[in-house]
Amino acid sequence: MNTSLTRRGFVHAVGMTAGTAAGLTALTSQAAEASADTLKIVAIAGSPRAGKTTAQSLGICLEAAKALDPERIETELIELAEMEIPGYLAAGIPLKDGDRDDFSTIAAKLTNRSVVGIIVGSPVYFGSMTYLCKAFLDRCIALRARRFALSGKVGGVVAVGGVRNGGQELTISGIQAALLAQEMVLVGDGRPTCHTGATVWNSGNDDISNDEFGISTLKNLGRRVAEVALNRVAPAEP
Ligand SMILES: Cc1cc2nc3c(=O)[nH]c(=O)nc-3n(C[C@H](O)[C@H](O)[C@H](O)COP(=O)(O)O)c2cc1C
Repeated sequence: MNTSLTRRGFVHAVGMTAGTAAGLTALTSQAAEASADTLKIVAIAGSPRAGKTTAQSLGICLEAAKALDPERIETELIELAEMEIPGYLAAGIPLKDGDRDDFSTIAAKLTNRSVVGIIVGSPVYFGSMTYLCKAFLDRCIALRARRFALSGKVGGVVAVGGVRNGGQELTISGIQAALLAQEMVLVGDGRPTCHTGATVWNSGNDDISNDEFGISTLKNLGRRVAEVALNRVAPAEP
């Protein structure tokens, strides 16, 4: 992997113009100055179906994150279903005629200094993440090339499956591998469930409300991302 991409190379890789890149840099530093005290946790939903179980799960997770410090924490949900993220640009193939690329919009949000936590959620598709989630994570190679722009941000992962044990943990591991390659600091769902992340079951009719265990993992993950990002980890009980 070429980690010494030039700025021009990065601009090409993320599919934006040099002008846009300069604008994003300015926007990022301005936003950081304007909201020095506001910390943001962003969730990215990798389902092609906007507003469905992955988005609902991330909503629960973000709510729990915000609850740690409602005055200080802002949250945002980004749905990849509503964006165009061509994965092939990650391999250096130029944008094809007629294709649109929204990656720079997400990149600008995630690299903003006020963003301290990123939660990635995907439905389980045959024991793995969706094509949308993979395309997004592959495109993040441009952020790695940009001096590891996501380094130190706290990461958590949510997987939603149509069966209770349909590959949620495998999906989480695949996403975590990509986030570790960004030098992010990963956490799992915190106590008392405390495993690799939130494992949710869509028990039918796109409904997760009966999945008591999955909902606890969502809440514990959201809280854990926030407490590590804000350095408010509770001491171990004696
Ligand atoms: C192509 C495809 C493959 C799937 N494979 C799995 C699977 O391996 N394991 C599982 O538990 N659910 C599987 N599902 C079910 C989805 O993970 C589940 O319906 C999930 O809630 C969808 O998320 P969404 O509501 O955000 O779209 C699959 C669904 C599709 C469309």
